[in-house]
Amino acid sequence: MAGKVISSGIQYTTLPESYVRPVNERPSLSQVSECNDVPVIDIGGGDRRLISRQIGDACRNYGFFQVVNHGVPDELVTKMQQVGREFFQLPVEEKMKLYSEDPAKTIRLSTSFNVQKEQVHNWRDYLRLHCYPVDQYSPEWPSNPSYFRDYVENYCIAVRELGTTVLELISESLGLEKEQIKTILGEQGQHMAINHYPVCPEPELTYGLPGHTDPNALTILLQDTRVSGLQVLKDGKWVAVKPHPNAFVINIGDQLEAVSNGEYKSVWHRAVVNSDQPRMSIASFLCPANDSVLSAPNELIKDGSTRVFKNYTYAEYYKKFWSRNLDQEHCLEFFKN
Ligand code: OGA
Ligand code: NI
Repeated sequence: MAGKVISSGIQYTTLPESYVRPVNERPSLSQVSECNDVPVIDIGGGDRRLISRQIGDACRNYGFFQVVNHGVPDELVTKMQQVGREFFQLPVEEKMKLYSEDPAKTIRLSTSFNVQKEQVHNWRDYLRLHCYPVDQYSPEWPSNPSYFRDYVENYCIAVRELGTTVLELISESLGLEKEQIKTILGEQGQHMAINHYPVCPEPELTYGLPGHTDPNALTILLQDTRVSGLQVLKDGKWVAVKPHPNAFVINIGDQLEAVSNGEYKSVWHRAVVNSDQPRMSIASFLCPANDSVLSAPNELIKDGSTRVFKNYTYAEYYKKFWSRNLDQEHCLEFFKN
């Protein structure tokens, strides 16, 4: 059982066969340039119209941006990173109590992406938790480290507030009412993935996560401040997003692409690994209510334009997403008109 995860204490000197990508699918790390211009947007006050315009530009041109002065206290971020690290340092037998390969579980430790569907595995272990409503889910979270629930609860609440603020700004940036997108998304779920990428013996041959888009509405990613690994597809080339201190990386998920009638793109991104240092990233996902219908508001169907996507519910989309392998075609393709 312990052999299922890669954070088991074993030091690998070669990459196990099941992780090796075919030659034409490898990350070509030497060809990736560092991107210094993923927009960094100060959302902590100032002219709201200007902020929403900056967000709109970033969503149109990148699908990715970073926010600073985001209102999540440093102390909560530091504690979240601390418990995340400590969790993955626990003895493997302790961690394996939470192991599951069933995506429907509301708390689970797992590995790679979708072990039951994929052909080649990815160099990642992850702890995935449902986080909203926090009082409903936190009793099933790990109780080791002892302060896990306390720290993660406070972090989740603060990140949800940030996500709500960003969704309001995105709504305004599309020329909609502040609340309009939130209303379409309904009572949103919130999930978290604490991603742990152990040191990898042969990082040129595999991925932490292969290129994918996120199936939810909005992702709020806390990168490892010391170790980079996130790469974004920009104009057909992979570029590395250098960790910015005190920033969250925000990306548009598939559902905001749908609700914006394709104006904002859910961009391909991936995580690569390295042979020097383990890396941790903490992704918070805001997810539409299961019964919400992801339909662009009429205001966005401008003269002469048509609806790019069918009307579908988030429950339908999520089922389709997990029935596939991660690095296939964009899942939204299945929902186009
Ligand atoms: C994700 C993701 C990137 C990273 O969890 O969906 O894209 O840097 N993570 O870990
Ligand atoms: Ni992602």
